[in-house]
Amino acid sequence: MNSFTRSLWKSLKCGRAAWPRHSSARAAEQHSPRLVLGIETSCDDTGAAVVDESGAVLGEALHCQREVHLKNTNCNSLFFLTRTGGIIPPVAQQLHRENIEQVVKEALSVSGVSVNDLAAIATTVKPGLALCLGVGLEYSLKLVDKYKKPFIPIHHMEAHALTIRLINQVEFPFLVLLLSGGHCILAVAQGVSDFLLLGQSIDIAPGDMLDKVARRLSLSKHPECQSMAGGKAIEHVAQAGDWRCHTFRVPMQHYRNCDFSFSGLQNLVNKVIIQQEKEEGVQEGELLSCAKDIAAAAQHAVAVHIVKRTHRAMLFCIKHSIISPKNATLVVSGGVASNQYIRKGLQIVADANGFAFLCPPPRLCTDNGVMIAWNGIERLRAELGVLNCTDGIRYEATAPLGIDISKRVEEDSIKVPRLKLKI
Ligand code: KG4
Ligand code: ZN
Repeated sequence: MNSFTRSLWKSLKCGRAAWPRHSSARAAEQHSPRLVLGIETSCDDTGAAVVDESGAVLGEALHCQREVHLKNTNCNSLFFLTRTGGIIPPVAQQLHRENIEQVVKEALSVSGVSVNDLAAIATTVKPGLALCLGVGLEYSLKLVDKYKKPFIPIHHMEAHALTIRLINQVEFPFLVLLLSGGHCILAVAQGVSDFLLLGQSIDIAPGDMLDKVARRLSLSKHPECQSMAGGKAIEHVAQAGDWRCHTFRVPMQHYRNCDFSFSGLQNLVNKVIIQQEKEEGVQEGELLSCAKDIAAAAQHAVAVHIVKRTHRAMLFCIKHSIISPKNATLVVSGGVASNQYIRKGLQIVADANGFAFLCPPPRLCTDNGVMIAWNGIERLRAELGVLNCTDGIRYEATAPLGIDISKRVEEDSIKVPRLKLKI
């Protein structure tokens, strides 16, 4: 952690963060800066934050359900586990219901503002777990109605993509890679609500895969990983492992597009786990002595797969002048983007292609209310999707991000040169 992230983290813990400010935003601030309350409930985090036009986070609060779900998944509810990567939607919904009021109140009180002071309320309405989105939307609409405030519906992945602009001055267009528990997306951000979709996962997301591998390896029984998210636990134990002990075939090598696939890789990892359990005479549910090597090898294969698809996206964007080589930037966000090993691989490919590489601090890569409030500010400034009437507003479990040009990418069939990935 560098001194900047350290001080950011410290100030966040105190509720107030001195975020760097944009010059354009500074001008707006000289009048009275507008404030947006952001509310996030799309998955297993209940988050709220107040952010002003200059990008200052006045206060935030977050209730994380991870430990509850970790305990529940140890008792196995297979239907939900396979579909939602360890989160049991009705349980998540109930926890959001129990916590949303307190989380919003805390964010407001730490900020020292009342709902009356807000310019708008921004809330994640898509994509995500339907039951969970419903809690945030219902609560927000009550506030909007009671205080007569404008409402800004937020696309969760757009929020992840724009978070970087809260802390760095990144101009459009930029290449963005979103890696989370529910998504894997490569896109070009051309404007606040203007994205070109280059590729996405055709099955599960990398976070989902890493969570499943972590569960299959019983990493929650590892003394150092008990309350860690699966992907984080994989990263943690992999530090002591050797990825060369097991070689997993990198997915989709023969498909020259920017799509991703992780479920085949997950099956390969499972097979190795079963084989090692036999060899070590260990029952499923117990820790393998070689768990760290399997974790390292799985993480390595995930990293190489992600890096190769991102490399092709860079070449495609430069070839078609979608991004200028003079100020090309790769932004990576989402929970899995806090993985240092994957970041290192992406840094190598960015350096090799003349792209600046930017990633929000880990705290802002995972779900939080700040990113939703900031997306609200971006939309407020651009006058995009700020609603004074909320009739007919619905949540949507699935929602594409931008215009899909993935077929066009595939038609180009760009060959990615070999890169030495000494991560
Ligand atoms: O973006 P996020 O907080 O929620 C979703 O929208 O999905 O991402 C959560 C995902 C989980 O799958 C979690 O295991 C993964 O991010 N994750 C990590 C790390 N920290 C969280 N994966 C790999 N390495 C990490 N350090
Ligand atoms: Zn997310």
